[in-house]
Amino acid sequence: MNPSPRELKHLLNIASEAALSAGVILQDHWGNIQVIEEKGRAGDLVTEVDKKSEAIILAILNEQVPDHGILAEESGILGNADSPYLWAIDPLDGTTNYAHSYPLSSVSVGLLLNGVPILGAIYDPYSNLLYRAAKGLGATCNHRPIQVSPTPSLNQSLLVTGFAYDRRETTDQNYAEFCYLTHITQGVRRGGSASLDLAHLASGRLDGYWERGLKPWDLAAGVVLVQEAGGTVTAYDQSPLDINSGRILATNGQIHQALSQALLNTPPISTWANLEQMQQITSP
Ligand code: IPD
Ligand code: CA
Ligand code: CA
Ligand code: CA
Repeated sequence: MNPSPRELKHLLNIASEAALSAGVILQDHWGNIQVIEEKGRAGDLVTEVDKKSEAIILAILNEQVPDHGILAEESGILGNADSPYLWAIDPLDGTTNYAHSYPLSSVSVGLLLNGVPILGAIYDPYSNLLYRAAKGLGATCNHRPIQVSPTPSLNQSLLVTGFAYDRRETTDQNYAEFCYLTHITQGVRRGGSASLDLAHLASGRLDGYWERGLKPWDLAAGVVLVQEAGGTVTAYDQSPLDINSGRILATNGQIHQALSQALLNTPPISTWANLEQMQQITSP
């Protein structure tokens, strides 16, 4: 059974409390990290702050919703595996930025019901911005309603994307797409925190976002935020989003079709080293 609006608000408050409490850990350890390790892949970092942040979120969920399931980046699957509710937690989204003292990372706490994201809270501890959204209840930033941008076309848009940690092990690295979209838009940013990329899209500061190689904890909260802010979230080909596929296309809705077409028809990477070929390329 779907939760009532009152139950949704209660669960959203739990998500917010967890994100804010974890954000204090990020603030407290800023610029003073003791342990930085690699998680099996070059460049895939984890610090003691990721773990401390996750511990405080887990403590809050264990106390408030002990009968729910949990998927947490640093601890894996926990809690009640039979529950239709699954919390998807990214305790520090943007670890590479954090480890380099580059001030762009966040805490993301999302909730799935039968595999579908229904609410989430994302906290940006540098700007003290708390983004919240729940199905049917709208999206807010510090309790003020937010909405996606009105940008009408791809060539007027500012986009954001990212590159997964497996980029040295695949030819599907997103490099060609990055070059192509840079060529035909007003710009493509690489933020380094997927949930914050989605929060910026939901609040109209960016017009579109795509990425591959993501995990449910990167996406759960941000997907609801964009949808409730009036945006569109799908797979690259505009079919329904599969949160386990790792791929997402999220936009203000206006540029969705054009960005989907651009991703599906990206010229090969060799093109970007050839000036004559580059000059022939235009928008879809
Ligand atoms: C990463 C960030 C980044 C994205 C990577 C993610 P982490 O998460 O969200 O923006 O490009 O694919 O893995 O490891 O910093 O939590
Ligand atoms: Ca992440
Ligand atoms: Ca993380
Ligand atoms: Ca990580």
